[in-house]
Amino acid sequence: MKLLAPVAALLPFISLSQCLPSNAGSDTSGTTTATSALPSGTSMGVLNTLAQGIGKKYFGSATDNPEFTDSAYMAILESSEFGQITPGNSMKWDATEPEQNTFTFSGGDAVVAIANSTGKIVRGHNLVWQSQLPSWVSDSNFTADELTSVIQNHISNVVGTNYIIGYAWDVVNEPFNSDGTFVSDVFYNTLGSDFISIALNAAHAADPDAKLCINDYGIEGSGTKSTAMQNLVQTLKANSVPIDCIGFESHFILGEIPSDLQSNMEAFTALGVDVQITELDIRMELPETADLLDQQKSDYETVIAACAAVSGCVGMTVWDFTDKYSWVPSTFSGYGAACPYDSNLVKKPAFDGIVAGLS
Ligand SMILES: *[C@@H]1O[C@H](CO)[C@@H](O)[C@H](O)[C@H]1NC(C)=O
Ligand SMILES: *[C@@H]1O[C@H](CO)[C@@H](O)[C@H](O)[C@H]1NC(C)=O
Repeated sequence: MKLLAPVAALLPFISLSQCLPSNAGSDTSGTTTATSALPSGTSMGVLNTLAQGIGKKYFGSATDNPEFTDSAYMAILESSEFGQITPGNSMKWDATEPEQNTFTFSGGDAVVAIANSTGKIVRGHNLVWQSQLPSWVSDSNFTADELTSVIQNHISNVVGTNYIIGYAWDVVNEPFNSDGTFVSDVFYNTLGSDFISIALNAAHAADPDAKLCINDYGIEGSGTKSTAMQNLVQTLKANSVPIDCIGFESHFILGEIPSDLQSNMEAFTALGVDVQITELDIRMELPETADLLDQQKSDYETVIAACAAVSGCVGMTVWDFTDKYSWVPSTFSGYGAACPYDSNLVKKPAFDGIVAGLS
């Protein structure tokens, strides 16, 4: 009984929060609702065109196979709004090598095919990560030599022979804890931090033209974790390990954009790596209001303007462009509305904020 009471008390709150964004998207009746009074974006700016106009390589979006049957979504994804796409899930280890040495490329191929047919570049995502990792990797008690071969075999099959994606790979994803120590996963526990150079060297061998990145969150502003990543970059560079870029995931909370975002990007680029904003979204506590959407517009502008101001910040990717397919509501209870298009695929003020940041 002690457990049941708080759970029951939470339920109405949870279901209300999760209903709000989809209500906003499903109101096709034309009746006036609170959400239909929310402001929309009005800019006609084309994001990828604007980004390239200020010397960036791309403005892009995450996407993946479950969305490809949504023709209204695809019309925007495939348009010139986006010059780059990142598969949200279909190139991860559990998708590409679910059993040892049994590879499945169809999901990633579908993403690459869309990029190919619409003239976009792909950021491959990702090769070595403690999550979405099959248990045959995490639970097999491989020796250091065996795990090295497992990593090398995975990368040499996924990169190059199958996915010649022409741009960048997140080779290592989220290696650090928030206190700057390495995550205690099978890779670190078996190989120490050497797993990072093993993975980067394997990716370079498989596709010498690809930009090789390490991607993480919580490194966007200065602090312990960001310093740990900078130290790692310096160590890799000192040991001639191929490292080209650092991904700032940028899953931000409304009103909490690091004030030193730009100078922290510059701290990384000073080490001889590019920076990319790889998974941008800015979540708010629901319900969304006109004021919160206005703050979100300003926050998007702040992030994009920081990248715009740093020549080594080469591109930016939103983690998906629409609230319809955002990971936020299912991951952060009570939060949502994090993307620049609403769940009805209508531009939000945040879209105008991006345009302002690129102008
Ligand atoms: C995409 O284009 C590249 C380069 O032309 C090609 O090697 C690759 O096979 C294409 N992939 C798909 C899935 O169409
Ligand atoms: C790995 O080691 C643990 C602890 O000794 C053991 O419980 C587990 O069964 C082992 N896994 C395999 C696949 O051998």
